[in-house]
Amino acid sequence: GAAELGPYRHYMQKEIFEQPRAIADTLEGLVGIAPELFDGQPDEEGVSASAHRVFQQIDRVLILACGTSYYSGCTAKYWLEGIAKIPTQVEIASEYRYRESVPDPRTLVVTISQSGETADTLAALRHAQSLGMEHTLTVCNVATSAMVRECKLAYITRAGVEVGVASTKAFTTQLAGLFLLTLALAQAKGLLTEEAEQRHLKAMRHLPVALQSVLALEPQIITWSEDFAKMENALFLGRGLHYPVALEGALKLKEITYIHAEAYAAGELKHGPLALVTSTMPVVTVAPNDQLLEKLKSNMQEVRARGGVLYVLADGDTRIESEEGIHVIRMPEHYGELSPLLHVVPLQLLAYHTACARGTDVDKPRNLAKSVTVE
Ligand code: G6P
Repeated sequence: GAAELGPYRHYMQKEIFEQPRAIADTLEGLVGIAPELFDGQPDEEGVSASAHRVFQQIDRVLILACGTSYYSGCTAKYWLEGIAKIPTQVEIASEYRYRESVPDPRTLVVTISQSGETADTLAALRHAQSLGMEHTLTVCNVATSAMVRECKLAYITRAGVEVGVASTKAFTTQLAGLFLLTLALAQAKGLLTEEAEQRHLKAMRHLPVALQSVLALEPQIITWSEDFAKMENALFLGRGLHYPVALEGALKLKEITYIHAEAYAAGELKHGPLALVTSTMPVVTVAPNDQLLEKLKSNMQEVRARGGVLYVLADGDTRIESEEGIHVIRMPEHYGELSPLLHVVPLQLLAYHTACARGTDVDKPRNLAKSVTVE
């Protein structure tokens, strides 16, 4: 009801603004699971000790999820391979459950789910188990869910109840959990130096404050949303860690505004989507660093030559400036590996404010359900 919403118009907006708290709570909750990463003691059940043993035994990760949770998995792949050096495969649960795959018992099967009840993700987990993969871990927001019951290990996120069908705080808390999992795996493999561990943990503790200053960009995002509300198509581009962020930004926009949106890896622009660019196809570019910006400059000219308009979410330390046909919002800081948690927030706000401007049912978009418990 209205009382719960407080100053917010919709649950989605409230949940976007709850992210600093949700991340702080999630990190606090996970201290018990990875105490070695927080200079604490293993908890009573020895969860941490048994997780550590499992982590030492596995040499691959298979991530299974649906929807927004799948995109958090896609992000985690970059961390798991980059930091923990573990070959990682991310698969859409409904694909994995029905295809022939090559099982490897030394795999850590990681399911990611806000609800813990998504039918396809549960079925994919059971399929992996039936193929002899016993090491299972879930990153899940509901401690009492089927997913938590059926996985051996659980990283519980503490986003709190998420009402909006379009997932926001569940996504960023999943990312926080997955980053912590990456550090725990790196440590189990002996790949995490004391210096690196301290640097990563410091960056994680800074997240709530960093998120606050990103949320303060809302007025600039509202200006962008006034343009987007008039469009029927949008293209999102990202590279590396920010490619999944672009995918998630496009998903948020299509879910609640009904604008057709797609995301591409920026390097693929020339291999197809450039053909679609016109003055009515805005191009959102996520987090280009300076090196990428150099590459993007020619893409930008091509977009501009077709009358396309660029909306650039620039990293804190890039030098790109707004000009005719190029709108730049600069992030307050440069966030390194944790950047996806910050860069997704303006895209959530863009979808939200565009939906408000179009008058759609933000919290209950047509044809979609919060939790898909049937196939
Ligand atoms: C539905 C929801 C999405 C969610 C997806 C996966 O499509 O509308 O927000 O990302 O299910 O749900 P899960 O609970 O497994 O994360």
